[in-house]
Amino acid sequence: MAQESNPVVSAVGLTKVFRDFWGRPKAKAVNDIDFEILEGEVVGLLGPNGSGKSTTVKMILGLLYPTGGQLSVLGRSPRAVETKREIGYLPEESYLYKYLTAEETLDFFGALFGLSRAERARHIEQLLDMVGMLHARRRRVGEFSKGMQRRIGLAQAMINDPAFLILDEPTAGLDPLGCKEVKDLILMLKKRGKTVLITSHLLSDIEDVCDRVIILYGGKIRAEGALDALLEVNKQERIITPTLPPEVMQRVLAILREHLHGESFSVDHPRRTLEEFFLEVIEQAKADSIETAGVIGGGRIAEYLTDREEGGLLNDLLKENTAPAPAPEPDEAAEREARETAAERTIEELTGADVPAPEAPAAPADPDRAEALAEADEKLNDLLGKRE
Ligand SMILES: Nc1ncnc2c1ncn2[C@@H]1O[C@H](COP(=O)(O)OP(=O)(O)OP(=O)(O)O)[C@@H](O)[C@H]1O
Ligand SMILES: [Mg+2]
Repeated sequence: MAQESNPVVSAVGLTKVFRDFWGRPKAKAVNDIDFEILEGEVVGLLGPNGSGKSTTVKMILGLLYPTGGQLSVLGRSPRAVETKREIGYLPEESYLYKYLTAEETLDFFGALFGLSRAERARHIEQLLDMVGMLHARRRRVGEFSKGMQRRIGLAQAMINDPAFLILDEPTAGLDPLGCKEVKDLILMLKKRGKTVLITSHLLSDIEDVCDRVIILYGGKIRAEGALDALLEVNKQERIITPTLPPEVMQRVLAILREHLHGESFSVDHPRRTLEEFFLEVIEQAKADSIETAGVIGGGRIAEYLTDREEGGLLNDLLKENTAPAPAPEPDEAAEREARETAAERTIEELTGADVPAPEAPAAPADPDRAEALAEADEKLNDLLGKRE
């Protein structure tokens, strides 16, 4: 990864201590860590349960205040609304309004980001196709399987075509086909110059898509580096060839014995991974037109995610941030602050921040879906009333 890239996230001495009711330190979730995430990188944040991954992610999102240290995201404070607008977030748990349909859910989030009706319609169609959920567009999210909810969550994280995506366990609950699609999607986003931070327990997923990993344990960084450098076994070689005729193999082995002076070596056949084999079986089943009531493979990348110049938006943003921002007029500043607080509160509710979130809008029984929608609309109006 080019070292000259701009840092999208920069953390120095980042610390988060959770306190109990009496203000006594209860858990040092993140303990004085330094790291950077550079523009265009796909970074994996790894670590066992409770090691501080989600806490770190929530601080980057501005959903939790650090107890100590400095943290900047896209050159600004993580709590700035402008920062949030450029970030797509897939939370660890799905927080979706269960009475809204897949389409309404995405429409709601699209409106939250101030997208026009026409833009929303275009993005939603393409996103649902991409995550293999077009056929379920009018079904309520509450009826979806875990994997289907994850797919809608991913679509929601991309509705605003963010420059920086944070995916907390993106493949949790997905079948291998879904995992493969998510991984392909992440690689495509990387090609488009997006920056991605992923947490996952599925190490093979991380290995397939990440340039670099940060491994946390007990809130501390225990290892960090480019995957290639970390995983390469330095003192060994591997040569892969088509199957050799026995006499050639005999000669190769003779040469190796002569040179290795009794050191052991091995020759074997490369193995496919179980994932590759599984995907082949499913592809064959699809080709044989076997019916399924489950998810229909998506995978076609939403056009609007691909039609922007590589890294263009992020470059603009970072450029914008290097220039000092003009001080807003006093009235305007107060108005903006009020709007930001409302927006933050709503985003916190939607993403399940650690602040005590009020109950999701009353989840009434069937005919009340309209009511749930009206309530969501009202919320949006409050929030976006003045935006075009
Ligand atoms: N709101 C909270 N109040 C008190 N302690 C918390 C809170 N959130 C997290 N913690 C504690 O902080 C530590 C790190 O938690 P965190 O959720 O960041 O871990 P994680 O690495 O994401 O784990 P997992 O793999 O299980 O998702 C844990 O000890 C956890 O109990
Ligand atoms: Mg977590």
